[in-house]
Amino acid sequence: MTTRILYVCLGNICRSPTAEGVLREKAGDRDVMIDSAGTGGWHVGNPPDPRAVAEARGRGIDISGLRARQVTADDFHDFDHILAMDGSNLAALERMRPVGSKADLRLTLSDAPELRETDVPDPYYDDGFAKAYALIEAAADGLLTRI
Ligand code: 4NP
Repeated sequence: MTTRILYVCLGNICRSPTAEGVLREKAGDRDVMIDSAGTGGWHVGNPPDPRAVAEARGRGIDISGLRARQVTADDFHDFDHILAMDGSNLAALERMRPVGSKADLRLTLSDAPELRETDVPDPYYDDGFAKAYALIEAAADGLLTRI
């Protein structure tokens, strides 16, 4: 059975599209469906930030074709795992989560406890794309071990 995974950040142009691309690459031929979305709607329809595209491209991963979308209530039924990039994203998701939805909602870095960090910091304003990428990659490895 296909395992459905949704990464969520604020804008869906930096962290979560990066995670989508990284996990897709690492998952290989495993039966997974991977998507990403933002809690905010400012960037809906836009491609990932050029800095995120460059960071991924440096690792051989092309995320330039992804387009931002906003989280919907249906996502909580359509996905098995919803992974929030930071505590603020997680709180926003908990507020909009429909009663009775089945998705397992947690922080992305809960799959990388060895890092002793909870949040993938928003790289948008401080250019923290290399750090975000490293955190996301460690968590993707952990997730693939867990699921
Ligand atoms: P993301 O980064 O949540 O990792 O996609 C951000 C992108 C844009 C904004 C904030 C965070 N923004 O405020 O426009």
